[in-house]
Amino acid sequence: MFFKKEQVTKVYNGYAESPDLALYLRGMNDFSNNEFDFAFLEEGFSARDILESKINEVSHSDDKDAFYVADLGDVVKKHMRWQRVLPRVAPFYAVKCNDDKAVVKTLATLGAGFDCASKTEIQMVQSLDVPVEKIIYANPCKQLSQIKYAATHGVQMMTFDSEVELMKVARGHPSAKLVLRIAADDSKAICRLSVKFGATLKTSRLLLERAKELGIDIIGVSFHVGSGCTDAQTYAQAIADARFVFDLGVEYGYNMYLLDIGGGFPGSEDTKLKFEEIAAVINPALDKYFPIDSGVQVIAEPGRFYVASSYTLAVNIIAKKVVLTEQSNSDEDDECDRTVMYYVNDGVYGSFNCILYDHAHVIPVLLKKQKSDEKLYLTSIWGPTCDGLDRIVERCSMPELQVGDWMVFENMGAYTVAAASTFNGFQRPQIFYVMSRPMWQLMQRMKEGDFPSQVEDRAANTLLASCAWESGMELLCSSCSSTGRVNV
Ligand SMILES: Cc1ncc(COP(=O)(O)O)c(C=O)c1O
Repeated sequence: MFFKKEQVTKVYNGYAESPDLALYLRGMNDFSNNEFDFAFLEEGFSARDILESKINEVSHSDDKDAFYVADLGDVVKKHMRWQRVLPRVAPFYAVKCNDDKAVVKTLATLGAGFDCASKTEIQMVQSLDVPVEKIIYANPCKQLSQIKYAATHGVQMMTFDSEVELMKVARGHPSAKLVLRIAADDSKAICRLSVKFGATLKTSRLLLERAKELGIDIIGVSFHVGSGCTDAQTYAQAIADARFVFDLGVEYGYNMYLLDIGGGFPGSEDTKLKFEEIAAVINPALDKYFPIDSGVQVIAEPGRFYVASSYTLAVNIIAKKVVLTEQSNSDEDDECDRTVMYYVNDGVYGSFNCILYDHAHVIPVLLKKQKSDEKLYLTSIWGPTCDGLDRIVERCSMPELQVGDWMVFENMGAYTVAAASTFNGFQRPQIFYVMSRPMWQLMQRMKEGDFPSQVEDRAANTLLASCAWESGMELLCSSCSSTGRVNV
């Protein structure tokens, strides 16, 4: 084994008290500022170790608030993977997915672009000195005052899908560079978007014509196949449709040079459709419809892909109730005659809003090692608010737990913190950021425009995988009957 679990606990228990250690663990200058700090992981330590250490730190206290560990190195890793698998496509991270400044700053350092949905997101990205060419205001229906804000702050690229939007742009930002969003087939996506956005091919012709009359520049086409795409072929069809609209644009005399293939990419490994499988469809479709010598610049707006797997949430059991079912026979100690309800300190009004808005199914992971003969109970898990809707897991099977025990939820970085409220006065969980040394070093190199070779890239991935595996942490997945977290 790489190191012993006791060592980890010992080292990280000193995290708060030892100034030397704190200094040693804390992030490098760039990242150790007022906005956030991150723990700098030495070789052999993983985000999981930090999570366990945080839990150990409060084991004798009543103060057991829910918290996240966010591995920024995972974001770096995703960026390397993106560059390797979709080399022709420049990622413009969709800030809406997780607007945590730590994430945005990490991606800005790596040189990514940004898809902003609003003035506030533009403000945030620009506060990190992201150049305007790396921002697309990708909301087809914008408030006029926010269009004007983009104009005065130099943001040129923005999407649209209607005549009314064209007229607003003509008023508020006549020099904008518009990208026509077309509707894609999102019937196989978990979160559908074409119900709300995207022009049909027929309407596209009218919009190009109207834009010409208004003297507005159109530079390209965008689409979004829906978040949590389950059929890679939808990208191929959308790329073919985009080619059709490009040709129309050229007919109307526009210099069409930007194709934006949107989001929809998976963010964790437990999805049926893998990122590489999607890329295997996108790359040949691009080569067919937008060959390199066409000079067309291709961008995408990935959200989930970058952040889902980087956040792990730990919640604590604050209350418990055992409900005996009607047919309960007190003489028999049968697991079926009772349901155990656990109440934890984050719920659907907080981080688990992904259950309501993102169609997520989450799976708790238990820290306690399960004995092979341990009895399992029918279980439901609830959030802390007084609302009956605040249910995290409807039904699963688990060993008995106590108030004060922890549950861990992995892959919690996408569409969680960004939409969490403080309903009923429950505060959002604190986030502890970590990054491994190899990832930090890679990030510095990428910042300088030095992209690692595929061999180095793979070596870094292997190292990270072995760190996690060797951490010695015994996490057990409870046998939930639900279909599993849909980490789309
Ligand atoms: C316009 C736009 N771009 C990008 C995204 C990000 O999508 P995903 O998280 O599936 O990559 C969304 C998500 O709603 C979106 O609406």
